Amino acid sequence: MLLAQLLHRIGIDSVILEAKSRQYIEHRVRAGVLEHQSVDILNEAGVGARMMREGLVHDGVILQFAGEAHRIDLSSLTGHGVMIYGQQEVVKDLVAARIQSGRPIHFEVEAVSLHDFDTDAPYVTYRSNRSDQRLDCDFIAGCDGFHGVCRASLPATRIELFERVYPFAWLGILADAEPASDELIYSNHERGFALLSMRSASVGRLYLQCKPNENLDEWSDDRVWEELARRFARKDGFKLAVGPIIQKSVAPMRSFVAEPMRHGRLFLTGDAAHIVPPTGAKGMNLAVADVKVLSLALRAHYHESRDDRLASFSATCLRRVWKVQRFSWWMTSLLHQFESDNAFDRRRQIAELDYLVSSEAAARTLAENYIGLPLELDRP
Ligand code: PHB
Repeated sequence: MLLAQLLHRIGIDSVILEAKSRQYIEHRVRAGVLEHQSVDILNEAGVGARMMREGLVHDGVILQFAGEAHRIDLSSLTGHGVMIYGQQEVVKDLVAARIQSGRPIHFEVEAVSLHDFDTDAPYVTYRSNRSDQRLDCDFIAGCDGFHGVCRASLPATRIELFERVYPFAWLGILADAEPASDELIYSNHERGFALLSMRSASVGRLYLQCKPNENLDEWSDDRVWEELARRFARKDGFKLAVGPIIQKSVAPMRSFVAEPMRHGRLFLTGDAAHIVPPTGAKGMNLAVADVKVLSLALRAHYHESRDDRLASFSATCLRRVWKVQRFSWWMTSLLHQFESDNAFDRRRQIAELDYLVSSEAAARTLAENYIGLPLELDRP
């Protein structure tokens, strides 16, 4: 939807096919941290007004370990902060803009199938409102997530997969509870990682490292709050604010890249091409960056009759994707408990955290990745 909106603003038309309902995509709780350049891209797309009013600008994040909290001052280290604004809110703003544009968006389409994307005349067939449709197009943008049909349409011989599955998951809650901290707290604790985030001044979003197959039935609200309290306990007496839990879920953790991201006239973007573990807050931002790169490549094709940016789309995106993969893997390794770790690894992890909060060079490395690496569009 963001790609469609960016293209619409430069006079390039598109049709959006969405497998789910509008209600579903607008209410599914997902990511919540926007890099500063994602904020700029949403504003440039003309869908940033509500985000600028309701989003929370954060100038720092807290790293907690050994019972103490340490602030990483993102703004003073990099000149930028991040924006807390739920992905489903971004989706609502994009759906509203699309509907206002009058251009097509079809919800709950079924049986989507891609054809001839290796030729100059690709087309997509699908079923909508119980009628079979055929859509002829110039290009197909596969913005359909990890489980979508686009990557799955490619023969295994054409893509190279790189993957790491982590031996833990996150149990996430959304709670009617005032966030106990103005800034996000990433806590390394011997019982497992915990994260305090938020969606507004009155809604908390918190996570606990858990088993990959964790059974939510075993997690009463009281048990969730007790475990969170343990993992956020601090020598200074910090206390979590507790409240009714509105939503509870378990998310698996994986790192995944499918190369290349272009196949003829099919372009894969976002989770269709790559997944990061959520620890670095990068999933939504990588998708925003990919579609920004693709929108500029399509602009060059239509408005300047140049295809060099389409040709370099995959390499341009992947160069950044891999740096963000590295960061997300590193944040995950730094903050979680791995069963395979021994006492040496535990001491090493704490030493690394201590280095991060005592060396400005180390803190800046974290900060510049966290606020978002540049797109480097014109790097050869
Ligand atoms: C979230 O608010 O959902 C969130 C924040 C930071 C992360 C991951 C998720 O690293």
